[in-house]
Amino acid sequence: MQKPKVFVTRRIPEKGLSLVRDFCDAEIWPDELPPSREALLRGLDHVDGLLSLLTDRIDSAAMDVSSNLRVISNMAVGVDNVDLAAATARRIPVGNTPGALTDATADMTFALMMAAARRIVEGERYVREGKWKTWSPQLLLGADFVGATWGILGFGRIGQAVAKRAQGFDLSVIYYDPAASPAFGASAVSMEELLRTSDFISVHVPLTAETHHMINAETLRLMKPTAVLVNTARGPVVDPNALYAALKANQIFAAALDVTEPEPMPADHPLLELPNCLVVPHLGSASKQTRDQMAYLAAENLIAGLRGERLPHCANPDVYA
Ligand code: GLV
Repeated sequence: MQKPKVFVTRRIPEKGLSLVRDFCDAEIWPDELPPSREALLRGLDHVDGLLSLLTDRIDSAAMDVSSNLRVISNMAVGVDNVDLAAATARRIPVGNTPGALTDATADMTFALMMAAARRIVEGERYVREGKWKTWSPQLLLGADFVGATWGILGFGRIGQAVAKRAQGFDLSVIYYDPAASPAFGASAVSMEELLRTSDFISVHVPLTAETHHMINAETLRLMKPTAVLVNTARGPVVDPNALYAALKANQIFAAALDVTEPEPMPADHPLLELPNCLVVPHLGSASKQTRDQMAYLAAENLIAGLRGERLPHCANPDVYA
């Protein structure tokens, strides 16, 4: 029997790839960089399934390249790169990989918060630049964790995993998320109260029309001058121009970004000139075990869709209505 034809838009970890290869006739995009738009559309020609990454824009035009397309499996928990409404209208289920990356992303949130609050990157640069002459009572002073308030914007799986970690640091945790219930000792507050009272603020909302630039000049203005902001969700949730202005004017203490707008952030971006802004290249889920698991879940979703079975993790369950 002929194997279903699929396009995989990058070399994902072998744990997922071997499963895909066993079941499918797979074309795997071989480059380090994502396929160009033209290459993506070419790759989609006559496919039955697509395994995409968050760097691929999967819109209605992409979905219409192959009339055989019956599943899109995105190797990410976020699906803002896929037009879900267009997929549902075409009765194409879209898979994602929730759960697999919750802990890794919460760990990265903590790592970034600690690094920004305790000025680790500034300190490391200071040493490399040969500026370290003595222990100094006022050198690179940062913020304490014990007794501080951590405000979590978006209290889903990752937000809750952050709250769980914060308990061990004796932090007081509050969250804003009208859809969530209290957990891990965190209490629900309004967005305004969270912004006004938090020492540390981390963002864990999906990118939607409502959350686009949720952190903007107005919301930054409500934060304490000592506040530290971390974004491990999606870049466009934070308005980069407003953040630049707030950091430059020391309106907040520091920010650490795992995700940016634009992404990738060019090396000459103004935010990278600021000592109180730390940027890493979208590494939230970047542990070996987590990426293996994400690749495996993505392969499982792909294969379930090709077999006409319900996807184990479906981002547009309306497709089954
Ligand atoms: C990573 O950002 C993901 O959405 O999985």
